[in-house]
Amino acid sequence: MPSVFEQVLDPANRADPYPLYRQLRTTPVTREPDGSYVVSHYRDIVALLHDPRVSSRDALTLRGFISTDPPEHDRLRALMNRHYGPPATPARIARMAPDLLAVVTGLIDGFTGRTGVDLVDDFAYPLPVTAICRLLGVPLDDEPRFHTWADAIVEGIGPQATDDARRRADIAFADLARYFTGLLDTHRHTPGDDLLSAIITDPDVRDAMSPDELLANASLLLIAGHETTVNLITNGMLTLLRHPAALERVRHDPDFVILTVEELLRFEPPVHILVRRALDDVDLDGTTIPAGATIRLVLAAGSRDPDHVPDPDRFDPDRHDPRRPDFNARQSEHLGFGGGVHHCFGAPLARLETQIALTELARRLRNPRLRTDPPPYRPNPVLRGPRNLPVVFDGIA
Ligand code: HEM
Repeated sequence: MPSVFEQVLDPANRADPYPLYRQLRTTPVTREPDGSYVVSHYRDIVALLHDPRVSSRDALTLRGFISTDPPEHDRLRALMNRHYGPPATPARIARMAPDLLAVVTGLIDGFTGRTGVDLVDDFAYPLPVTAICRLLGVPLDDEPRFHTWADAIVEGIGPQATDDARRRADIAFADLARYFTGLLDTHRHTPGDDLLSAIITDPDVRDAMSPDELLANASLLLIAGHETTVNLITNGMLTLLRHPAALERVRHDPDFVILTVEELLRFEPPVHILVRRALDDVDLDGTTIPAGATIRLVLAAGSRDPDHVPDPDRFDPDRHDPRRPDFNARQSEHLGFGGGVHHCFGAPLARLETQIALTELARRLRNPRLRTDPPPYRPNPVLRGPRNLPVVFDGIA
């Protein structure tokens, strides 16, 4: 009999893993047959995300500061942050809003004359790719090349990844680093108005970050900004089409879309599981996780933990509204962007893109409907989302 977590990994359960997460939470910390530990309660996950005995080093196939620990992590993140802006509202991201709206408008204009599209391939994939390319100064024409590398890297993430998949991910990371070597050279000589140009021409950053570190961090940003926002936009439209009253409010109320995106990060998050390594014995909820063990933090189970948030299986954007008399800031927090020192670097961009995307889709698609529910899902249990989202409509406004 497979363990509950092994059932989570089974692609057959990808469309609705939430009943399994409920089962997982009946035992807050489980030891799996492979010796790893699975943690599913909100407060335990938050505790581990802030615990210096819990490491991100060698835990991931990803490179760059996401797989380092403090103090090295904080040094690298601060350097990458220098030309980004204040954490919550980076000036560089705010400046991108008109551009993002133009990209979204162009993509939806492309639906003219059609009565159905695949919201993944025709919309949710091209938007974040364009956005991250603009932020970093990566030519969009190179997309077909790094698309293949990005796919290989994502396949290598997570407990389901075979040794072969991890090897392919390593090779793809090396290819991507080679690609960035050339691109950074170009930016050094002819800088543009983008983050990588700003970093590469800043002598303080160049002195403080080795060329290898810079390549790894540039690759990290490209990949992290590539594969996650696709799923937030797709999960977002899927959820709104299942909740027509919310879709109707998104059409008219710019404040409501902000709450909606927050609730989506809790209710249907793109990142379901994070991996860490115990550097020391860690006692948690009556279990000792031994030094050296792999720890899997099931973020998506923690964000629906009824000990943290009331009525967790209800999609309720209003729960994030600070103007409501029963608003509770602590309960409104979720694990959609992780937590602790590794809290998502790209969160402001991901939020802005998804807010613009959902608003414009809601405003402009006439009478949108799902063609199939549930849609087909990608097999990946860590970065979870539909492979396709076929949507039909009566035209474009
Ligand atoms: C970290 C989620 C979009 C860049 C993280 C983490 C999560 C996450 C859960 C924590 C990883 C860990 O602790 O091991 C998401 C989601 C996104 C998104 C759900 C979209 C909806 C982006 C974008 C970028 C980005 C657009 C790039 C601009 C990063 C980076 C880290 C990170 C660099 C590592 C931060 C660190 O280690 O200090 N993200 N992310 N993410 N994310 Fe995102």
